[in-house]
Amino acid sequence: MPEIAYVNGEFVPLARATLSVDDRGTQYGDGVYEVIRTYGGRLFAADRHFARLRRSAAAILLPEDDERLVAIESIVSDAVERGGFSESLIYVQFTRGTAPRGHLWPKGLRPNCVVTVRPFAIDLERERREGVKVVLAPDLRWGRCDIKSLNLLPNVLARNEAREKGAFEAVFVDRDGRVTEATTSNVFVVENGALLTPPLRPNLLPGVTRSIVLELARSEGVPLREAETTREALLAADEVLLSSTTVEVLPVVKIGDRPVGDGGPGPVHARLFAAFRAAAKSA
Ligand code: PDD
Repeated sequence: MPEIAYVNGEFVPLARATLSVDDRGTQYGDGVYEVIRTYGGRLFAADRHFARLRRSAAAILLPEDDERLVAIESIVSDAVERGGFSESLIYVQFTRGTAPRGHLWPKGLRPNCVVTVRPFAIDLERERREGVKVVLAPDLRWGRCDIKSLNLLPNVLARNEAREKGAFEAVFVDRDGRVTEATTSNVFVVENGALLTPPLRPNLLPGVTRSIVLELARSEGVPLREAETTREALLAADEVLLSSTTVEVLPVVKIGDRPVGDGGPGPVHARLFAAFRAAAKSA
């Protein structure tokens, strides 16, 4: 079955999907995106992803009445159905549109909408069983990381540098020593059995998985606090967790060369991951 792309109204095999080189996403990263996955063939937390997509689009002043943005739920459902994979990974992108390069965008420019559907092929079973290593990286990003924008260069560089150091992820620490998030995931720490995660503010993404983990922690009776999380708190934590659409809830067992807690995945991770999988599979 071919991987599927939708580009501005047409479904095509992904390998044949194209956008102009004058697309402003290419030249300026002038666009927004979402990554969604299925469980049991059904989109998971779709409402939250589409709500965030519309918030991101509004925040960068894309026209909210763009008909593809208005109809994005049905476009994505259609694309997933056409893909026909048992589990799918869906990428949705809206850019400002196509225009000769220039910082000023032409008034009335029509956004470009791309949706791709691939089989979900990320296997993190070993990482989940053994836990992963992260490294710390200075958060050099702009002040609106709450917008899921295409401007990911600092994330891309930091994650690749992490890989060079044998780590799975890089956790960003701002110049005040506060943890913001990781390059592609949100961060939680466990201190004395309580879950702690940085509060939502403009310098981190309001992760869909983060919001679900917080709800599950509440319903599981895990004490939790959304509060500033320092580099020192991260290094002293009993457990550290990452959350995202693709990693779900993943235990961190090493920060640089230092073990987290006793050096293995911990009980709060086990509880939250089990609750998360159960929620995803029954959604
Ligand atoms: N990344 N923080 C950042 C910087 C992210 O890029 C992501 C998601 C998250 C977690 O968000 P969510 O739980 O809604 O997936 C946090 C996606 C998966 C990506 O860019 O591939």
